[in-house]
Amino acid sequence: MKRNADELLALIFSYVTKIAAIHDHARLLPELAEMGRDIVSAERCSVWVLDREKTYLWTKVAHGVDYIKIPAESGIVGNAIAEKRAMIINDVYADPHFNSSVDRETGYKTETMMVIPMHNSKDEVIGAMQVINKKDEEGFSEDDLRHLNLASTYVAESIESSLLLEEIDATQRELVYIMGVTGESRSKETGNHVKRVAEYSRLLAELSGLSEEECNVLKDASPMHDLGKIAIPDAVLNKPGRFNEEERRIMDTHAELGYNILKGSERTLLKAAAIVAYEHHEKWNGKGYPNQLSGEEIHIYGRITALADVFDALGSDRVYKKAWDDERIFTLFREERGEHFDPDLIDLFFANQEQFLAIREEFKDVFYG
Ligand code: C2E
Ligand code: SIN
Ligand code: SIN
Ligand code: SIN
Ligand code: FE
Ligand code: FE
Repeated sequence: MKRNADELLALIFSYVTKIAAIHDHARLLPELAEMGRDIVSAERCSVWVLDREKTYLWTKVAHGVDYIKIPAESGIVGNAIAEKRAMIINDVYADPHFNSSVDRETGYKTETMMVIPMHNSKDEVIGAMQVINKKDEEGFSEDDLRHLNLASTYVAESIESSLLLEEIDATQRELVYIMGVTGESRSKETGNHVKRVAEYSRLLAELSGLSEEECNVLKDASPMHDLGKIAIPDAVLNKPGRFNEEERRIMDTHAELGYNILKGSERTLLKAAAIVAYEHHEKWNGKGYPNQLSGEEIHIYGRITALADVFDALGSDRVYKKAWDDERIFTLFREERGEHFDPDLIDLFFANQEQFLAIREEFKDVFYG
């Protein structure tokens, strides 16, 4: 079946819309491959990406399937990339570069193939689109080549920006995690505190019906809640007993200190972390600190982290107190429903108690020696 230009255009538009909405990096390559396959009516399409060192090519076939990696020079794809030119090969088994081991492994018979190297905006080759087995016709045509070549420009750009975004994202998450651990490490709190607070926060976010994106952001931002503690003097931070009034006053500055460190950033994640640092000690009844916000004036991220933090703090030994048993914690939560804590969040906590306890079990502190 031959497509006319209108049909082709409609097809491309529908994919472009779909692909533009993809936020999950892992879903991008399979979707781009599907578009390539449909544009030229092939049975299969793979989008191969060259790694930074140009030593291997990788692809992802479908959601949930692992990445496939092959040496960069291998096969017809590698040859097309090395020679920087598109290739139509309508008798694959006669081509000296063809590597039939993939066919033997999959039991799939490759007959015709077209490969198009993809370029980024700096005209560097970043990978290739490979389509296999033209449907209903003898082989791929110069028209197919032109069409796929046009699409490959869009594909290359999508991949580049996605890789870039993923890199920025991963860098941010790593930094934020390290900063969170740093904030905790000066006090004698154990390393898993930040992990547990992250997981409790994510669970509460999910149960509150926040979007998947917000749930992920909060999970990565909540470990930063005590970042400001890095500026609290040791004598106060690690005092092996209860605070006096002056020590209490000094410690209370950690919320605003953390906020001041983070507030200048335009990044989504650091903005969320700034909110969490600032508002995690506010209370629903308006009696918290530093700004005596109340109710929904407190950002949902702050309300969630408050509950996650206190749940974890009460259940853990601290230099100034022993861990509480669960009944005592639950009693306090019931008393503080609508006082310290958002009543809806307390209800969600009790309705899903086992999930919180499962997280605590999974990330429990292990003591050596
Ligand atoms: P943290 O130990 O991570 O505790 C976080 C929050 O959990 C506390 O915020 C409080 O809301 C709750 N929490 C923890 N332990 C208890 C407790 O024994 N009883 C009650 N009712 N609530 C508890 P808060 O009070 O604003 O404290 C912030 C941070 O200040 C604490 O973080 C801890 O690092 C430090 N801190 C607070 N009080 C003392 C103290 O008396 N001595 C020392 N050395 N540090 C303290
Ligand atoms: C090749 O291009 O021959 C290797 C990749 C493949 O067969 O799918
Ligand atoms: C990491 O990125 O190193 C893990 C922290 C996280 O959960 O994002
Ligand atoms: C909200 O207030 O933003 C909904 C979740 C909640 O009530 O805690
Ligand atoms: Fe705090
Ligand atoms: Fe904490």
